[in-house]
Amino acid sequence: MSVDTLQKLFIEELKDIYSAEHQITRALPKIIKATSSEELKAAFESHLEETKNQIERLDKIGETLGRSLKGKTCEGMKGVLSEGTEVIEEVEEGEVRDAGIISAAQRVEHYEMAAYGAVIEFANLLGHSDIAGLLSETLQEEKAADAKLTKVSKTVNSEAVTASA
Ligand SMILES: [Fe+2]
Repeated sequence: MSVDTLQKLFIEELKDIYSAEHQITRALPKIIKATSSEELKAAFESHLEETKNQIERLDKIGETLGRSLKGKTCEGMKGVLSEGTEVIEEVEEGEVRDAGIISAAQRVEHYEMAAYGAVIEFANLLGHSDIAGLLSETLQEEKAADAKLTKVSKTVNSEAVTASA
């Protein structure tokens, strides 16, 4: 398949994001189970709900564009999430694992922030200001989720420092 216009590239990148968000909703329950900190668990639980809503936004965007966003696998997110799974497998339960989970989760958020930043720009250039608005709402949520993780990391990391080896 050839992508020769910005409009086509825009659709392809939206499909990538659609896949990424679905992968995140599948991964989060496992991550929540592996997390010890109640504050961190709560942050992930609320982000899981937010992510489901972000998928609904993407469904709406697909409808507006008259295109299905299904059928693609975001390989980047797959890799980032498998690194997160590695942390859970390799690090014993407790504060140190939580610190590793936050580090992995912030990689997820930054990946998403980069992806949304690009498609918002494309949407604006292509005259889809309504779609750009919806995507911007999601970008703000990803930024807030990242900031929340930074905040929780202050407590978790300081406990991890003193965790017994
Ligand atoms: Fe998301």
